[in-house]
This record gives sequence, structure tokens and C-alpha cells, in this order.
Amino acid sequence: MMGSVKVREPRPVRGLRAVLLLVVCSLVLTCSALGQDLVGVYLTWKGDPATTMTVNWVDLFEGSSRTVWYRRQGTTEWLSAEGTHTRAGVSTLQVRRVELTGLAPDTSYEFGIGKPPAKETDGWRFRTMPGSLSRPVRFVSGGDMMHSREMVDAMNRRAGALDPDFAMLGGDLAYANGVAATRWVDWLQSWMKNSMGKDRRIIPFVIGIGNHEVKGGYNGRVPDDAPFFYSLFATPEGRSNYVLDFGQYLSVIALDSGHTQPIDGAQADWLGETLAKRPGQQFLFGFYHYPAYGTTKAPKGGLPYDARQSVAIRASWIPHFERYGVTALFENDHHNFKRTHRLRNHKRDDENGLLFLGDGAWGVQPREVPSPEVGWWLAKAEPRNHLFHVELRADGTATIEAVDVKGVVFDRVDLTKPRTRPVGN
Ligand SMILES: [Fe+2]
Ligand SMILES: [Fe+2]
Repeated sequence: MMGSVKVREPRPVRGLRAVLLLVVCSLVLTCSALGQDLVGVYLTWKGDPATTMTVNWVDLFEGSSRTVWYRRQGTTEWLSAEGTHTRAGVSTLQVRRVELTGLAPDTSYEFGIGKPPAKETDGWRFRTMPGSLSRPVRFVSGGDMMHSREMVDAMNRRAGALDPDFAMLGGDLAYANGVAATRWVDWLQSWMKNSMGKDRRIIPFVIGIGNHEVKGGYNGRVPDDAPFFYSLFATPEGRSNYVLDFGQYLSVIALDSGHTQPIDGAQADWLGETLAKRPGQQFLFGFYHYPAYGTTKAPKGGLPYDARQSVAIRASWIPHFERYGVTALFENDHHNFKRTHRLRNHKRDDENGLLFLGDGAWGVQPREVPSPEVGWWLAKAEPRNHLFHVELRADGTATIEAVDVKGVVFDRVDLTKPRTRPVGN
């Protein structure tokens, strides 16, 4: 015999419950409007890093505010600026973006989203770059960031503790493969929470594209095969290859190692023209994802640098860098630490060769590196998570340190001149 089971019919919402529902709904809307349920806030540049700042943020609310409130630190009056609103690819992530212009160089600003922050912990700070090397400028560089949330959190905290002026991120950020939006939620949350500098200052970043930003990894269509890269990040020229000039003391060139643009052809021509216009820039770095002089992924019967992409980069890009001179090139993708010997014409050239640093091991499991007998191009290599910490000084000297997740500086390069000598002009 069956026991008696009482099924309660759902009752209409009314009276007190309806009021409670209204309160909850309005709280949700208010929270979203105040930016209290953000997925992430991040800073990038489309224009001059001394006088502009692009404030980006992501949440899940269609109707939340597009307004940034900001003021120069030490002043009382808040200014506001209205931004754009798009969605990240076909996901429900809502992307808002405001480019602030007319800012003072090397100056701290407070900012908030939706309304002026009532207290310090409601908002954040940013700092514009100096217009000249009136003080040393520091940045961190790395890529291949998030095999797991724990790993990216740990290295992001290391980046924040160094309190650099900006970060240079060379692709394979969230490992979303153009599809997994929730991995971007983790990446954005981790960046906002862990990489913060002193006094709630958000560290701006310059960004490059990697194979894990793209459906299929290589030869992707713009923007459809890399929907998150192209919607989350506004680059200076709206492309995956671009140049950013910091006064006359620094230029940073981002390149696309075959993910959404061919390595050769138009991109290589653009690189040559871009370098030709910048002989007066004191420091100049290139960064891209797939390495010209890697540490793993050797094709059958070959060495890592025999990979198709590496061969193409050495044919199309490296001669331009050799011709015009460069401070160093940051490479990624191989998940190891490496510093090459100085190389020119595919040979060791201690006097005027290029320096390649890599290989993208921010928050991923490292791989194996070649033995010293095999890896003639490598001055030092080991499977170790790290970021590079770079300091540039007005006298043309620079220091590049490799820092592991515990903060141990395990490699250091002291540059006595800012760029390799131009050859063949
Ligand atoms: Fe990669
Ligand atoms: Fe990777």
C-alpha cells in the first residue's frame, strides 16, 4: 500500500513575498549599476600611454552603467566619461570600455564605475606613463598564463607585488580556444584580484595573441575565430599586430605568429615600415607568441627552431629586427624559461646579436628543455614558471630579471646599450 504523499501546489506570489522579491530584484540591479558584481576591470591602451588610459570592465548585466568616474589623485572634483558596450563574442559577458584622454603624464588617478566611489575600496587607481624617462620605467612580461586558476593566481600575485608600470602579455592567456567563456571569467577575476599594484592600482597591460585564443590555433578568421581576444581587448590599431610608442624612450611591437594573420606578407612588410620609422626610439621590444628560437615542440628529426612557424619568423621578421636594432624579443608558447645567446644570421654573435627571452611559463606546467650539447642557441634554459621583470633607465641601460613564482630572481641580464646596432641601412 502506498503511503500518503502530500504534494504542495505552488502558490501565487503575493503580499510580503512579492515585496521581498521586488527588494531582491532592485538590489541585484543596484549592485550591477554600482559595479559590485564585476567579473573584472582591466586597463589597456589604444593611444599615447602618457595621456590616455582605456578602462575596460566585464560583467553579466545587460543594463549596467557605461560610465567611468575619475579624478586626479589629490583633487576633489570627479569627472565622468561614457563608454561603449558590446558583448564578448557570442557569450553573455558584457564588455564596457571608456578611453580617457587628455590626462597628465606620470600621474595617479582614482576611478570608479557607475558612480564616484564612496570609499577607497569601492574604486581603484591607475597611473599614466611618464612622457620621458624622468624616472626608471618597469614592466613585467610573460605569457601562457592559466593552466589552472591556482597557477595564474600565484603568478599574478607575483606581478602585482612587483608593482610595475605595465605588463606585456604574450598570448595563451585563458586557454579558452575561442570558445570557453568561463575560462575568461576566471582569467579576468584573477587579474583584477591578484595582480593589483600598491594602493589598489590596476596594472595596465599590452597584449598579444596566442594559439589558445583562436579556434584551431592557427590561420583563424578575424574576429570570428578569436571572438574573445577581439572583443575583450582594444588594441591601438584594432589588430593583433600593432605598435605602441611611449614618448621617445620606448616602443613595443606586438606581432601575430600565425594565429589570425600570416607571419609573412603584409604583417612582415608592416614590421619593416614600423621599424624604419623608429630609429630614434631609445628602447624597442618585439613580443609574439610562437618562438623563433624555442625550447621544445621539435618537429620529427629536427630541433625546436625547425618548426614551421619558427622558420617563417626567422625568414620574415628577424631580418627587420637585425637591420634596425632591438632591445630584446619576448617569445612564448613553449612553457619554459629560456634566454638565448645573442644571435644574428642564425649564428651566435656575442657582439651585436639579438636577445630572445621566453618561453611563456606564467601559469602553465613547464616542459623539457634541450640539453646544453644540443641547444647551441641557448645561454640558459630550464622548465620553470617565471615572469620577466624589466627596468629601463634614461642612460640607456636596462636590467631584465627572471623571477619565479616565489619571487626568486634566478636569471639577470644587464644591458649596457638600449638596442642592437642597426646593420645594413
Ligand atoms: Fe601557445
Ligand atoms: Fe601555451
